Amino acid sequence: MTYETIIVETRSKVGLVTLNRPKALNALNSQVLGEIVAALQAFDANMELGAIVITGSEKAFAAGADIKEMQSKSYVEAYLEDFFVGWEGLTRIRKPIIAAVSGYALGGGCELAMMCDFIIASDNAKFGQPEITLGVMPGMGGSQRLTRFVGKSKAMDMCLTGRMMDAAEAERSGLVSRVVPAADLVEEAIKAAAKIADFSIPAVMMTKEAVNRSYETTLAEGLRFERRVFHAMFALDDQKEGMAAFAEKRPASFRNR
Ligand code: CAA
Repeated sequence: MTYETIIVETRSKVGLVTLNRPKALNALNSQVLGEIVAALQAFDANMELGAIVITGSEKAFAAGADIKEMQSKSYVEAYLEDFFVGWEGLTRIRKPIIAAVSGYALGGGCELAMMCDFIIASDNAKFGQPEITLGVMPGMGGSQRLTRFVGKSKAMDMCLTGRMMDAAEAERSGLVSRVVPAADLVEEAIKAAAKIADFSIPAVMMTKEAVNRSYETTLAEGLRFERRVFHAMFALDDQKEGMAAFAEKRPASFRNR
């Protein structure tokens, strides 16, 4: 597949997607959505790869859903096409996805970052859900995911006032896992992804599944799910190798089986 709105590369065992609509500050239109999901599905199916990074430009990770594309939609059009449902494709990717965010991550941009498994932000990153200023509300998950990341009070503040949060506040609030200098962002994210990709890929994928389960279920069910998956890991060659390597005081060499 050829891509027009994103750049798709691999760096050793890491898949890298760079949003590339600089003139529109990487606004997310339906073409971008289709291309991102297709690229991620191809990475997910490629057993040479163990983790994925999504990034934008230094000025903008993404400044939101494409306002010009959606401004004239009618209710019935939005309803019939189930506008934005396509983003669920991203949440079905089974390998870990790191969002490397520099500059603006607004509206759908913030929501895209939150659909990833964790966010590494540059010190110039700005997060926000400004949809209220357009006469609407978040539609790609912001009212739900932001609340789970930062709690009700801050999520209400962000969604109701439309204000932006800088990188320091985002880190304090638990929205991002780490903040790095802007110049190092992509390399730091790729380094983190490469570290993940060197572990046992099935163990990594099962771990992602278990952490995500905590969003969807009760603590008792989540703990039961964790234990069952943990037990299943004793069927992996990689569990035998990882524990033998520890006992033998040598680095583990995972075979991804
Ligand atoms: N959709 C479409 N085009 C966008 C855009 C968006 N979300 N954000 C920026 N652009 C375009 C601008 O229209 C402009 O294009 P032209 O040169 O053709 O006029 C170009 O990108 C550069 O933008 P600015 O000139 O505005 O750049 P700036 O540096 O002055 O401001 C900004 C940057 C503060 C991010 C400003 O662009 C902005 O406020 N953008 C919109 C942010 C927003 O409201 N996002 C939410 C969208 S709704 C949404 O996402 C719904 C949802 O829940 C999924």
